[in-house]
Amino acid sequence: MKLKNLFLIVGLMTSSFAFAAMHFEKNQKCSECHPKIYEEYKTSQHGNSTVFDDPIHGAVYDKHPMKNKMQKYRCAKCHTPTADNMEQLLRPKNGVIPDPHNETQNEAIACAYCHRITDIMPGKAMDTNVISKDMRTYFTRSSQPKESSFHTIKTNTEVFKDAKLCMGCHTHKSNKVGFDVCSTEKANMSDTNNCISCHMPQVDGAPSILSKSKKHTFHGFPGLHGDLSLLSKYVVLDFKHTKKNFTVSVDHKATHSSTLHPLRMAKLVVSIEREGKIIKMKPKKLLKVIGNAKGASPKPTPPWLADRIIKDTRIPANTKKDFNYDFKVKSGDKVTATFGYYLVKPKALKKFKLKNNKDATEFKIISKEIFLVK
Ligand code: HEC
Ligand code: HEC
Ligand code: HEC
Ligand code: HEC
Ligand code: HEC
Repeated sequence: MKLKNLFLIVGLMTSSFAFAAMHFEKNQKCSECHPKIYEEYKTSQHGNSTVFDDPIHGAVYDKHPMKNKMQKYRCAKCHTPTADNMEQLLRPKNGVIPDPHNETQNEAIACAYCHRITDIMPGKAMDTNVISKDMRTYFTRSSQPKESSFHTIKTNTEVFKDAKLCMGCHTHKSNKVGFDVCSTEKANMSDTNNCISCHMPQVDGAPSILSKSKKHTFHGFPGLHGDLSLLSKYVVLDFKHTKKNFTVSVDHKATHSSTLHPLRMAKLVVSIEREGKIIKMKPKKLLKVIGNAKGASPKPTPPWLADRIIKDTRIPANTKKDFNYDFKVKSGDKVTATFGYYLVKPKALKKFKLKNNKDATEFKIISKEIFLVK
């Protein structure tokens, strides 16, 4: 064997062992032919998941002991998955923190990243996405893919089935002591009712400038941050009353709990209008509190110190929950029920210095109904 070839083989071996940096086409490139999808994506949390663009992620990372000790940026795997120095960012005691001047660390959850996922590898701390090697081959579930001059389109029905593609980052994430700080259940998900059908519905407009289709798959990924109107139909409010009291029910039709991230809080607000006066009921707060029992009794902690669930009042997947009010309504009363969320529990705002952040403090309404008592 010639010396040159030997070097080549050794070179290939070492690079594959050292997880050669993967390269991805830029989001900006996709915008040239998929302008509508790009616009939607740019305002979504997938388009703003980096430590530089998401002030809430930034605020939590700022308090994280790994940042303060410049240990490693473990968050990169899901929040900045196309960073060209991923291996370095994930290495223990790496001595680096995310770099705002590194272009690849500003690409968030890139178009090309999602569209190159071919499989998911289950893991204890978190799952891992398997990314195809070819920079310009993107996957579709369609059995008769269309053509593009810029990239190849290949069929991979398996990765879209039951929205497997979403699970690599969303199933679970555990901390150092193996406690799952965040997880997404998939109760009764099917090929027609899953992460993609609810969070990526079909909306008006062509998928590309070269397409004649009238509809495309929405890439704004509605969630607690943005416009909740596309999700309202999955949170249905109802009202019942007896002579003595009344009940407001929340039919939560999602395949996962009413909030997922432990920072969140949901709230049901009910008021009654009677003869021009407003009578307010005590709000029902729904949340999951995580923490540990290092002190005298269990207390809430940030995710990295938690080893247990202290309290969980969230509405489970596909569940209708009744909330009872010990109040006599009478004919003519107008009962207003409002269900919504806080991105950050009011109690955690101070700890993460988010008191002045509008997005973190705002009550985001998903459903509101007015019931007239006959
Ligand atoms: C030169 C134009 C062009 C550019 C640039 C481009 N695409 Fe496309 N893309 C197309 C065309 C044409 C189609 C065929 C379907 C259609 O007309 O909408 C397509 C289809 C797709 C499909 C859908 C396949 C399906 O039918 O389900 C995906 C996914 C995709 N592109 C991803 C990307 C990503 C990611 C980028 C950026 C890295 C990108 N494209 C850049 C032209 C382009
Ligand atoms: C296994 C993938 C994964 C890893 C690793 C990960 N996250 Fe996340 N993170 C997510 C997902 C998925 C969401 C969205 C969850 C939701 O909204 O319920 C999220 C959301 C968040 C949010 C809420 C952001 C907002 O704007 O409301 C914060 C804060 C956060 N992550 C912090 C971190 C920090 C800090 C790290 C690293 C120490 C980290 N995450 C590592 C997957 C991950
Ligand atoms: C039947 C519709 C439906 C399906 C299926 C569904 N969701 Fe949701 N999702 C919702 C609704 C409604 C909300 C608003 C919060 C709530 O009440 O659950 C939501 C909220 C979220 C949030 C924000 C929660 C938070 O705490 O910030 C994330 C992240 C999310 N969904 C991801 C997923 C993923 C990943 C899947 C697939 C495993 C999925 N969803 C499946 C309807 C759905
Ligand atoms: C979080 C993962 C994710 C990201 C990020 C993402 N996509 Fe998609 N995209 C999907 C999924 C899943 C589908 C398929 C939906 C379906 O089968 O109905 C899809 C569908 C498409 C399609 C076909 C649309 C249609 O209506 O036929 C195109 C084109 C596309 N994506 C381009 C892009 C571009 C361009 C970006 C960035 C601006 C992007 N995607 C970002 C997950 C993603
Ligand atoms: C590469 C990892 C990754 C993949 C793959 C992924 N997500 Fe996410 N997703 C995240 C992270 C990280 C966040 C939180 C970003 C933030 O707020 O900083 C998030 C946030 C969300 C949100 C919440 C948006 C909001 O307004 O709070 C929804 C909904 C969501 N993802 C749905 C999906 C769906 C549907 C898929 C599959 C098509 C998917 N995700 C695939 C990492 C991922």
